[in-house]
Amino acid sequence: MKHLFCIVTVCLYALCLTCGCTESSDTADRNAAVKSDFPIPHLEKRGNVTQLIVKGEPFMALAGELHNSSSSSTEYMKNIWPRLKATGLNTVLAVISWEQIEPEEGKFDFSTVDDLIRDARKNDMKVVILWFGSWKNGITSYVPVWVQKDTKRFPLIQTKDGKNLNILSTMGEESAKADAKAYAAMMKHVREIDHDQTVIMIQVENEVGMHGYTRDYHPQAVEKFNANVPDELMQYLIKNKANLLPELREAWDAAGGKTSGNWETVFGVGDYTDELFMAWNYAKYMNIIAAAGKAEYALPTFVNTWIVQPQDNHPGDYPSGGPQAQNHDMWRAGAPNIDILSPDIYLPDYPGILTTYSRNGNPVFVPESAAGTNGAANAVYTFGEKGGIGYSPFGIESRGYVSSNTGIVTAADASADIAPFTFTYNQLQSASAEILKHQAAGTIHAAWLKNANPSIPSASFQMGKYIVKASLRGSSIGYALIMMDAEDQFTVMARDAEVTFEPVGETGIAGLAKVQEGDFVNGEWVAERWLNGDEIQLRYDLLEALKIRQSGQGLRFGSGNNKMQRVWLVNY
Ligand code: DGJ
Repeated sequence: MKHLFCIVTVCLYALCLTCGCTESSDTADRNAAVKSDFPIPHLEKRGNVTQLIVKGEPFMALAGELHNSSSSSTEYMKNIWPRLKATGLNTVLAVISWEQIEPEEGKFDFSTVDDLIRDARKNDMKVVILWFGSWKNGITSYVPVWVQKDTKRFPLIQTKDGKNLNILSTMGEESAKADAKAYAAMMKHVREIDHDQTVIMIQVENEVGMHGYTRDYHPQAVEKFNANVPDELMQYLIKNKANLLPELREAWDAAGGKTSGNWETVFGVGDYTDELFMAWNYAKYMNIIAAAGKAEYALPTFVNTWIVQPQDNHPGDYPSGGPQAQNHDMWRAGAPNIDILSPDIYLPDYPGILTTYSRNGNPVFVPESAAGTNGAANAVYTFGEKGGIGYSPFGIESRGYVSSNTGIVTAADASADIAPFTFTYNQLQSASAEILKHQAAGTIHAAWLKNANPSIPSASFQMGKYIVKASLRGSSIGYALIMMDAEDQFTVMARDAEVTFEPVGETGIAGLAKVQEGDFVNGEWVAERWLNGDEIQLRYDLLEALKIRQSGQGLRFGSGNNKMQRVWLVNY
């Protein structure tokens, strides 16, 4: 009987190969067939946060993104890998481009994928693949030559007077299909070779959206814009009306809250409606690609966003229709196969922007931002305050390195820019199991502290029985990550900060019963000095301190590379 079953299975498989069975019917089997004892990397809601699960465990991506062209050459990357290790990364974000894997239509060359995965593995690093296909920074520059040449089959966005821009139009059904085919082929290949879960997530395209105008004037786009809002979108909006983000809800309400009509009837006349139209069409196009990839290998997906800059006046000054915060509902409606809508944050108000981009449960992964002391504060804030999955400075391989091709990494190569960042990344790595546990339990907070632009000199959080306050000390930027281990016990990681405690309620003082510095080693807290006296006495005017419910003592962290501190509190 067992024999017969095997024969039937083999025959069916052979039959399947001969008739070229399509992917969609056997997605589940394919994903289950990944040779691993673990479920494939996936997102999972734990407590109030969404975590990335790799090999069955929550994973914190202490990542860095390579410059755009680095991963196109295995040889070039040889000198880069040691730097990535030295910087404290556990994950690298690297480009795989359509032009490179499908130089001739239907003929694939996956050598860059193979080499990237092999070398990442050798360096004990995870990979997030950045799929540069139809768009990169909104522009169409990474498509193969055969796509570039055929603007009839792969139409471009048009100006009002019918001129082509070098941006594939979302109206191009063939373009979406061809991109999806290449992307799915890559995902199939990754599934086949990545048995140890080196690749953990995929970025689909890069900073998509239309430059120049608010919307595409390709005749087909104009026709769609003047036609009724698609029923699929209308139904989504009606169903999710109570939870829509305020930007969209206000525009819809202001135009009368209609449930049918063309785009201007439903959302009003103006730039925002044009942008929403583009967002819907980008989302639909991207969903075709993401879905084809997930049918092969359902890794978590995200898109990254060229966010609105202070000098921008209209959509089109920034890529119109991208996953900017005000367009999130369109992306959720049109691209259910994209899991995360990520911001690239180069602007100074990191916490403000991240807060805007994490509304409505959007999981937090920041693919492009700063290194240095700013980057360290950003990373801590991402994991400690926003339940983040990952943080990643852009152009990581050249951060802090004075000579570009020595191939040898020494301490002397690391400038002041990268050293504090690396320290923070290493400390986050050693505390990662603890941080992830506290993320899920909701027993963690982090303060991002800066003296100007924006000015956030302190932040307070209620944690159990206490109000915990973190304040900036000295330099221009600091941070404090606070974990509540038990009712009266806290562990803090900080730089350039002071942390004080006050009991919740009208009366009483929280005293520091005992303070130890230490660090996590292999997941275990290893204590070193007992801190007391000058190390924890912040002030001696106890009567004045009493007026603001303070004991006069607190945790103090300097601008250097601090150990963590663990404190036990008493109330009097
Ligand atoms: C944002 C893009 O997403 C990156 O690929 C890169 O071009 C950076 N900008 C450059 O600053």
